[in-house]
Amino acid sequence: MEQERRFDEERILNMKTNQYSGFHKLTMEQRAAEVAEFSGLTEEEIGRLTNPGALTNEVADHVIENVIGTYQLPVGVAMNFLINGKEYVIPMVLEEASVVAAASNAAKMARAAGGFTTSYTGNIMIAQVQCIGVANPYFARQNILHHKEEILAIANEKDPVLVKLTGGAKDLEVRIVDSQIGPMVVTHLLVDTGDAMGANAVNTMAEAVAPTIEQLTGGTVKLRILSNLADHRLARATATFTKEAIGGEDVVDGVVAAYAFAAADPYRAATSNKGIMNGIDPVVVATGNDWRGMEAGVHSYCSRGDHYTSLTRWEKDADGNLTGSIELPTPVGLVGGATKIHPAAQACVKILGVKTAAELAQVIAAVGLAQNFAAMRALATDGIQKGHMKLHARNLATVAGATPEQLDAVVAKMVADKKVSVDYAKEILAGMQ
Ligand code: MEV
Repeated sequence: MEQERRFDEERILNMKTNQYSGFHKLTMEQRAAEVAEFSGLTEEEIGRLTNPGALTNEVADHVIENVIGTYQLPVGVAMNFLINGKEYVIPMVLEEASVVAAASNAAKMARAAGGFTTSYTGNIMIAQVQCIGVANPYFARQNILHHKEEILAIANEKDPVLVKLTGGAKDLEVRIVDSQIGPMVVTHLLVDTGDAMGANAVNTMAEAVAPTIEQLTGGTVKLRILSNLADHRLARATATFTKEAIGGEDVVDGVVAAYAFAAADPYRAATSNKGIMNGIDPVVVATGNDWRGMEAGVHSYCSRGDHYTSLTRWEKDADGNLTGSIELPTPVGLVGGATKIHPAAQACVKILGVKTAAELAQVIAAVGLAQNFAAMRALATDGIQKGHMKLHARNLATVAGATPEQLDAVVAKMVADKKVSVDYAKEILAGMQ
């Protein structure tokens, strides 16, 4: 009895600090119960994730067009994240084995030096107004800037609620873009969209200022649309991984060398960044945000220099520890869009415990950095297949019909014999009967 109570206290303490050793060994129901407790979810709220059909056909029918049903993906939780001194359980929606485990493992290693530190440049989205056929583009550019206050006022008339909340459209940038049809005068409206991703707000503003831009330039306005290269809405994260926590100085050097490859070679950068998006997209999806917008922002941000490169940087500090940093556009929000419509997304936001778009963006940056570290460490040491194969073997053994009691033995044999397939799992199972 006494022992049971002690275990329970330890369990609760562990969950409060989010360092839960053996979490993956619990049953799905037990995990869900622990997460509900950590995040203060009601039975109804956790039920939106544990029971199928949270997004009803009626609601789905209003989300997109020509709806014929809904589509489910697993929701996992990444553990051990300590970001700016706060404990996070990170919901991740995706289909790829080993990603959630890798993120949790990386976050655990980061704790030795205090976890992740993040910052954010603000909720500023860009709306572009393209103006063509301008005879004197440099003169026109200055003319737009002379009338900045007037243009911002026209934009802000469209959204008094946003203006009250955030100030709305706050600044202008005007660029001359050379193109095959001649120079274009491209005006950027910089809009503080608050806790919304803000696509509708900024697109409406861009359309509203178009006639004034035409008058000021003598040209013709064409496109009026936001840019996903949201480089005024940047999230940053850093972490130090001590050499002791990650397996020694050789591992530090291995990760730095792996990073040097990604920094120099676009073929490697594409894969390294894909690994970063393995962490980021599942959080973006879980919270009901637009993962295509996020992807577009990240990859364009990595292409600003003379070649496509790594989103992260990895260096060795003066003490021989590994330090990582990431900076990325984060066009995401917490109000509007699917975040408010999808009941499961709302439950995921509650698990994450983020209260603002700024906080969500910074968590996303930290998860991206963690995911990249996990992949780089695996690649620089054992190779990626060892961990992958074990998890892949678990999936295949389940498909082959292994019961929970048979699973570990079937996986162990498949991995030991280096034969990971459904057919071989069936053969092992037949032998066990
Ligand atoms: C696999 O989904 C992701 C990795 O290829 C990332 C990387 O190579 O850095 C392992």
